[in-house]
Amino acid sequence: MLNVALPKGRLGEKVYDLFEKAGFECPSIRENNRKLIFENPEKAVRYFWVKPSDVAIYVERGAADIGVAGKDILLEYEPDVYELLDLNLGRCRMAVAARADFRDDPRRTLKVATKFSNIAQQYYASRGRDIDIIHLNGSIEIAPILGLSDVIVDIVETGTTLKENDLEVVETIVPISARLIANKSGFKFKGAAIEEIVRSIAAQTEGNV
Ligand code: PRP
Repeated sequence: MLNVALPKGRLGEKVYDLFEKAGFECPSIRENNRKLIFENPEKAVRYFWVKPSDVAIYVERGAADIGVAGKDILLEYEPDVYELLDLNLGRCRMAVAARADFRDDPRRTLKVATKFSNIAQQYYASRGRDIDIIHLNGSIEIAPILGLSDVIVDIVETGTTLKENDLEVVETIVPISARLIANKSGFKFKGAAIEEIVRSIAAQTEGNV
């Protein structure tokens, strides 16, 4: 049985559609209930819904053989997994944003509010910029408005959240999209099944660009 961790929510549903089209269907997953685990013994596949930011943990620790996680999570937590495929879904970018009137003063330590402390740390370290990280868990856009931070490092998809909070992108750090990841030892023992899935899904995703 191949264990597959799917990110709960809209992205996860698109991801399941891909698996289904690739020939790894599990019809019970479409039933509207609160179950979290579904399996199709004929296809030797078991799916489970987990919080998107937890997929990499399940895969790294081998509770799932493969899963789908955003590149943001992979860059932030650096799990020890194989990244097999860019699914070209959930496309957005990690960016620095600030109020339109913000001017950086390099003599001052820059206050950065973010959920992605590791990404922000690495980005500013590579530029030799001294920063003070303010780690928040959500609604990051409020921080510069209330003077808690100078800038934010966050995900920008449509840009609506920034716009509605009078913030602007200062710089893009990295483009983000959903990635198919695999547990390292699972990849050795179930390599043939995983490679079959990767091949079929790759054929499906070519049109997603
Ligand atoms: C994410 C991100 C931004 C928003 C960007 O938040 O943190 O707030 O989406 O999308 P947009 O550019 O299309 O407006 P999410 O909804 O994940 O909630 P959060 O506040 O918990 O981060």
